[in-house]
Amino acid sequence: MRAITIRQFGEPDSMTVEERPTPQAGPNEVLVSVKSIGVNYPDLLVIGGKYQILAKPPFSPGKDAAGVVLAVGSGVEVCKPGDRVVCQLEYGAYAEEIVVPAAQCFVLPDAMSFDEAAAMGLAYQTAHFALVERGMYRKGETVLVNGAAGGVGLAAVQIAKGLGATVIAGVIGEDQAAIARENGADHTVDLTMPDLRNALRDRIKELTGGHGVDVALDPVGGEAFTAALRAMAWRGRMVVIGFVSGTIPEVKVNYLLVKNIHVSGLQWSDYRDRTPDWVRRVQTELFDLYESGAIRPKVMESLPFEDYARALQMVRDGKVTGKVVLRV
Ligand SMILES: NC(=O)c1ccc[n+]([C@@H]2O[C@H](COP(=O)([O-])OP(=O)(O)OC[C@H]3O[C@@H](n4cnc5c(N)ncnc54)[C@H](OP(=O)(O)O)[C@@H]3O)[C@@H](O)[C@H]2O)c1
Repeated sequence: MRAITIRQFGEPDSMTVEERPTPQAGPNEVLVSVKSIGVNYPDLLVIGGKYQILAKPPFSPGKDAAGVVLAVGSGVEVCKPGDRVVCQLEYGAYAEEIVVPAAQCFVLPDAMSFDEAAAMGLAYQTAHFALVERGMYRKGETVLVNGAAGGVGLAAVQIAKGLGATVIAGVIGEDQAAIARENGADHTVDLTMPDLRNALRDRIKELTGGHGVDVALDPVGGEAFTAALRAMAWRGRMVVIGFVSGTIPEVKVNYLLVKNIHVSGLQWSDYRDRTPDWVRRVQTELFDLYESGAIRPKVMESLPFEDYARALQMVRDGKVTGKVVLRV
């Protein structure tokens, strides 16, 4: 079987496709023939050696894979050979065959394609945990999603809408605004507005009748975070998801006090590792939302396995709305 391999940290095109023996499933593990691989922004950080959790090279990057179960080790009850599954890994998904802990394998609804499943993976789990767990969302509240046309952002727009929120999407430009609206956003705000700190607050006050946003989800950081914090409602909850803008913002804590605002961070992989049953419950809820038509992972493009460097470059260049997947 072939695996896209990091020999030394660097750019995506420094990786090579290498032939490796088929891995064996041990106790509580599942061997999967991969059909589709999700390409995520953090993959770039792993390949560059800049992610918080790294293996020692050689290894394969990749956090989301969907495929067919080939074999299961002793003690596995969640799936059986022949089942269609999606798997969430710390790394290793960029390969034709993978072994994953059974706790990280989820049997797919019949209607869901491998590409949709791979596109759903990390992004939808992250968005759900950010909104419901860290953001303590309550039905009917107003939710601001920054980076709303990206992988996590678009998932958050769909989930929040599916769970009854009024959704305001923070985007760059009219194309992203249109995508956010197609995916359920009630309103859009452009995060490139001049004087964003004041302009965003004013626009959100206008959209919410002076109330502000109850929950803000921020994968962007920088000015977008700081401006969103000023647009929060009384007792609002802001969730830090990432820093695609390249700037880690600082919080003036007097502002939290004055408006009774709560800021929290999300590291989804901790939930995966510490509370697998909770992650499984959320995955079941996501599959239910999919089957009801409330959420629909957007696969912008599926590229051949060998085109991994192009797929990753598209993510780096900000050319992706929703997700790019690699097809085995
Ligand atoms: N905390 C967790 O557990 C967790 C889990 C998964 C991902 N993440 C993080 O979440 C972040 C987003 O991941 P993703 O997969 O959604 O990335 P993505 O698909 O690249 O989406 C990012 C979105 O943000 C927009 N954006 C970039 N810079 C911006 C700026 N300065 N102002 C406003 N919008 C901007 C992008 O627009 P353009 O396309 O125009 O650039 C894009 O629409 C990453 O930092 C990732 O590491 C965290």
